[in-house]
Amino acid sequence: MSPQRIATRALNSARVRLKRKLESLRPGERIRASQDASLLVDRFPQLAEYAELSRPIEASLSRLHEEYVSGVSSRIMAASLEVSCFLRCFLELVEASHVADLGSGFSSLVLRLRMAHDPSLKVWSVDDNPYWLGKTEDYLVQHGVNIERLLDWTSFVAEVEAGQRFDVLFHDAGSMEFRADVLETVIAAVRPGGWILLDDMHKRDYRERALKILARNGVPAWSLRAFTLDGLTRFAFLAHRPSNSSAD
Ligand SMILES: C[S@@+](CC[C@H](N)C(=O)[O-])C[C@H]1O[C@@H](n2cnc3c(N)ncnc32)[C@H](O)[C@@H]1O
Repeated sequence: MSPQRIATRALNSARVRLKRKLESLRPGERIRASQDASLLVDRFPQLAEYAELSRPIEASLSRLHEEYVSGVSSRIMAASLEVSCFLRCFLELVEASHVADLGSGFSSLVLRLRMAHDPSLKVWSVDDNPYWLGKTEDYLVQHGVNIERLLDWTSFVAEVEAGQRFDVLFHDAGSMEFRADVLETVIAAVRPGGWILLDDMHKRDYRERALKILARNGVPAWSLRAFTLDGLTRFAFLAHRPSNSSAD
């Protein structure tokens, strides 16, 4: 790469980091984060002690995460350690036997390590990119975990159309545009009373689009900034399909 191209890339990346930093300082976002954290603690009292709850999980995942971001994917593309810990903790707060990670990778290992200790749990790992689905499979094999139900996007949609429903979905697949485009399919895939964890909701354009789609479908959502904010200013949201919504 030419020195000019390297300099342009570095400048663009510094611009993005600055934009994100300024965005993360916006009072509206921080106020919503704190109000939503209180609402979530009302619903899940264990979250009041989230630091305690997540500490052993973080200890068990941090080395694996470091190895994944340095040896398989990258820190920017992989789910953060923070959101991975939340996902893992969340499985202890809700009854979940059918869980899907959309956008395979480190999250697939996190869920499948849990599956190894919980025979009632079944995990689906889905990717819209065959290359990364293959990389995930190799990675899971290296770690000696179950590799059943690794699916491309078309097969996942076919399963949902055939009636497969999930208790928890981690929505972290593909580009932000793809994620918004397929959100209605993801909403259809969660059972009434189930949960969607939407990663990368720090991106305002995506967040606004996603929240509109969720609201249009009667699915409320809460900021998880208080629990998942990472060093790259990324954070997730949690959405809940009401129990009384009709099963499609
Ligand atoms: C945000 S990533 C998903 C991350 C995944 N949930 C994890 O925990 O690692 C979204 C998609 O980007 C692709 N991807 C993953 N790592 C990548 C990389 N280092 N470079 C380019 N694309 C990548 C994969 O298709 C992945 O599903």
